[in-house]
Amino acid sequence: MSEKRILLIIGGGIAAFKALLLIRLLAKRGVKTSTVITKAGEEFVTPLSVGGLSGEKVYTDLFSLSDEQEMGHIELSRSADLVVVVPATADLMAKAARGLANDLASTTLLATDKRVLYAPAMNVRMWEHPATKRNIETLRENHALFVGPEEGDMACGEFGFGRMAEPETIVEAIEKILAGKTHLDDLALKPLKDKHILITAGPTREPIDPVRYLSNHSSGKQGYAIARACERLGAKVTLVSGPVAIAPPSGVDMVQVETAREMLTACESALPADVFISVAAVADWRPKTNTDKKIKKDKQELQPLALSENPDILRTIANGENRPGLVIGFAAETDNVLNHAKAKLAKKKCDWIVANDVSGDVMGGDNNTMIIVTKDGADEWSLMSKQDAAHKLALKIVETVA
Ligand code: C5P
Repeated sequence: MSEKRILLIIGGGIAAFKALLLIRLLAKRGVKTSTVITKAGEEFVTPLSVGGLSGEKVYTDLFSLSDEQEMGHIELSRSADLVVVVPATADLMAKAARGLANDLASTTLLATDKRVLYAPAMNVRMWEHPATKRNIETLRENHALFVGPEEGDMACGEFGFGRMAEPETIVEAIEKILAGKTHLDDLALKPLKDKHILITAGPTREPIDPVRYLSNHSSGKQGYAIARACERLGAKVTLVSGPVAIAPPSGVDMVQVETAREMLTACESALPADVFISVAAVADWRPKTNTDKKIKKDKQELQPLALSENPDILRTIANGENRPGLVIGFAAETDNVLNHAKAKLAKKKCDWIVANDVSGDVMGGDNNTMIIVTKDGADEWSLMSKQDAAHKLALKIVETVA
């Protein structure tokens, strides 16, 4: 990392003091740090303390004649190898997402041609607000990188997501990015270019008669988020989806189906693929009789409802002639999650099983805890939003197939 230069932008939040520790950790590794402090940031740390630690000039003012004579703000935004925003406040990210440029920090973020790593820090309600989520999504689309936030106690007394990543974690992220290990540093930023990824999502719906069906609570959110994350990394994505109430991600080939058998046919016709991700909550059974006429209440046909087993799509594709190089299954479990997942990995012959505990509000909810089970072991990820989990999974796929 030595001989690298970071442009650090310090936003206005209580976590700003951690930026000082970050500068020290970077200096120990021989990394030089130029710093911009926002007006709000100056309420928490002073240019004097920052400059004292970094040994470099600290910039605060967009319209400072002396700064502009030394180094214009455009040049400043391009002089570093990476721009790091610590703490990335809701306000600073909202400005960056909208392209506002009314102070030195936001102007620099708009003018830079370098990657930007944000370390968000805010109250949990602010973090969970749809406006913040939209801004994060926009910044991701613009190829921003994120470290944290983490779950924990907050300065405001609440508990939850929004606590800034520790300086050591931020340094690790910086090291990875500067070493090109995120696989995102290639110029095209499309590490999954030329890869075809086939994804199933949502529930299936198995008709009993023209008005009734068997189904489950799957919302499709996780599968759709994975499709979006893979598409954003350049993959050609085919998303075979059961009936859901969410909008299709842009840029993916959507195939809408209802039943498990339709889903299997759609998947088989979408092959060959490099990766198959089976996220759908496929109904294991379907009613034996599916009549064209509505079954009357007094009819005995439904008592008991006779069922036939549905095809196992994951198992069929994992064992098929056209098997994709990487086959990923999901295991939604309510108990003994890891053991069930390991058994499923062997039984279905897939390469990874993403296990999740659905005893809480995972199905239909916005957050997920994933355990990635492979033949080499299990890697448990902390609770995070389904979008973040999707992004992390997509990056793991990049490491494997790109
Ligand atoms: O056996 P179980 O339903 O728990 O396995 C879950 C995994 O298998 C998920 O990846 C799901 O998409 C897939 N599956 C399937 N076809 C079925 C049942 C499950 O593809 N009929």
